[in-house]
Amino acid sequence: MKVGFVQFEPLFGEVERNIERAEKLIEGTNADLLVLPELFNTGYVFASMDEVRALSEKIPDGVTTRALLRMAKNNDVYLVAGLAERSGDRFFNSAVIVSPQGYLGTYRKIHLFFEEKRWFDPGDTPFPVYSLGDHKFGVMICFDWIFPESMRVMSLQGAHVICHCANLVLPFCQDAMKTRCLENHVFAVTSNRTGTESRNEKSLRFTGKSQITDPAAEVLYRAESETEEVGVVDIDFNRAADKQLNEYNNLFQDRRPDFYSMILHHHQE
Ligand code: ACM
Repeated sequence: MKVGFVQFEPLFGEVERNIERAEKLIEGTNADLLVLPELFNTGYVFASMDEVRALSEKIPDGVTTRALLRMAKNNDVYLVAGLAERSGDRFFNSAVIVSPQGYLGTYRKIHLFFEEKRWFDPGDTPFPVYSLGDHKFGVMICFDWIFPESMRVMSLQGAHVICHCANLVLPFCQDAMKTRCLENHVFAVTSNRTGTESRNEKSLRFTGKSQITDPAAEVLYRAESETEEVGVVDIDFNRAADKQLNEYNNLFQDRRPDFYSMILHHHQE
């Protein structure tokens, strides 16, 4: 199964241009599943609620989801891509999931980062798991990585690979993903963006280095920090199906949830 990321530099507010850029990069890649960055069509550094309202789209009726459906069909590929979603008078930092056959669903970012809390509602949908042939993939967005529960709940639902749309600005995630993959024995595809956005005296530099990580904590592919790059790796999903570590230890069966009940209700006051 060929899975990969599309790393590039979206320009803020230039939805049509960003869709075109992504479409050009995807053309002829010959992958089964591709992950695009978080907010790939709009850019990241919003400066007002008016901008959020103007750039967010309905799913699946908006122009971006329609373009993704076309790209998935034309290239015979599953796509997971981040975009700003409008639902009634609410806005979400979402990822849309499409297959060559059509629209599959939407994931709304559960753990919002920094000023995203000014613009978006926190996700109200569970972490999703979708089938791809005999295998399964989950979806999360950027900062979700820092909460181990995100990948755990999708792995426990049988996901073999986690599709991770990102706009990373801190340097920790790529190395942390090795541990996330190791502790769940799954693959992950982190699709990050590049470039700097300076708007209203705020400036963020995005760190690139999109990464495909395997269940043994090996980095199968890491992109450069500033290049536009499509990285595709042929992976054997069956490696993520077996959670047996040795004749005594099984990563999932050895868990002791009775001793973890605190995480169900613990909130720091
Ligand atoms: C992030 O969640 N965009 C860091």
